[in-house]
Amino acid sequence: MALSRLLLSSLVLASLSLPALAASSKDDALAGAALFRDKGCAYCHGAGAIGTPKGPALTTLRTDKDWPPQKITDQILNGGKKMPPFRESLTDAEIAQLVAYLRAAKRPEPPPPAGGAAAPAPPQN
Ligand code: HEC
Repeated sequence: MALSRLLLSSLVLASLSLPALAASSKDDALAGAALFRDKGCAYCHGAGAIGTPKGPALTTLRTDKDWPPQKITDQILNGGKKMPPFRESLTDAEIAQLVAYLRAAKRPEPPPPAGGAAAPAPPQN
């Protein structure tokens, strides 16, 4: 009896810590969708990355051989000609989530924003 309870509680513990260890790329893409909206990307690239006059559409990045994941990561870290760098305002984990979002076969919709605000302006650099 005591043994089975012990077993049970260690099972519960194991399953609790699993999601953190094995966060699926689907979870990353979903987190990235919210970051894309909330960290200023959508301000220039548009909701769902469909593009605006301020920034190009990013809808075909997944299949674009010119944009492997590492290059997308570098673009976010360092910015480009008109895009600001985000190395100060995003963690490596957040950038990985953004890359997962941009490379997702089926991009998830972000969860509703906490404050109900539209795409905020990017941080000023
Ligand atoms: C101030 C406007 C602006 C913001 C904010 C911005 N971008 Fe960009 N982004 C651009 C522009 C303009 C380009 C085209 C190349 C250049 O000028 O850097 C670009 C290019 C890119 C590219 C390369 C794709 C290509 O075809 O050039 C990626 C990937 C990208 N942005 C992702 C992001 C992500 C992710 C964020 C948020 C963390 C973000 N951008 C925020 C303006 C912006």
